Amino acid sequence: MVAGLIRPGIPLADIGTDHAYLPVFLVENDIIPKALASDVKIGPLENAKKTINKHNLSDKITPVLSDGLKEIPHEYTDFCIAGMGGELIAKILEESPWVRRQGNHFVFQPQTHPEDLRRHLLTNGYEIIREDVVKERMKYYLAIEAVCTGVTEEHREADYYIGKLRETTSIHKGKYLEKVASRLDVKLKATRDEKYGKLIDEILEAAK
Ligand SMILES: C[S@@+](CC[C@H](N)C(=O)[O-])C[C@H]1O[C@@H](n2cnc3c(N)ncnc32)[C@H](O)[C@@H]1O
Repeated sequence: MVAGLIRPGIPLADIGTDHAYLPVFLVENDIIPKALASDVKIGPLENAKKTINKHNLSDKITPVLSDGLKEIPHEYTDFCIAGMGGELIAKILEESPWVRRQGNHFVFQPQTHPEDLRRHLLTNGYEIIREDVVKERMKYYLAIEAVCTGVTEEHREADYYIGKLRETTSIHKGKYLEKVASRLDVKLKATRDEKYGKLIDEILEAAK
């Protein structure tokens, strides 16, 4: 799913790459010409080097030790940040303002709190283009494609929970959004704050 949202033909910086499976898949299948496989920890970076060497791709995929985007060369325009919490992805973007360059392209796969990531994106000049959901071993996974436009428009709270899922054709959309609503229902029951009730109604409407 994540590979399907990457822009073909353009070098990619994969942040938090761990085993470098994504860049290896993309380069090996001639979807992109080259990539950076970056991680903040030595262990995962060693995993990445092993996969890159096993596939004889060391001339096309470069491992980089980097906390988020801090050591990524600024000529990169395309980025993937997958397999981390939405709050951490937002923090990584916030810590490297250089990445907010008009036209830059991003694919995110937040494991938790996608609403925090969407809130960051939609209030900081990014536009969400597409979202997709898959189900694997009873778990749902979300991916978000975004571009930096430099323009920030008004958004409603529900947009941070639904994003572009209204437009996705994924067969898992309904069940995924019902799960999002049920997490908010826990908050509604705990706080009796009607704002959660209204949000739940909107999310369930989008789930139909
Ligand atoms: C669950 S793995 C995801 C691997 C791969 N991206 C995927 O989706 O399958 C998360 C990786 O993110 C890395 N990570 C966590 N915080 C990071 C940061 N601030 N900068 C770069 N990598 C980070 C971890 O070391 C770990 O290897």
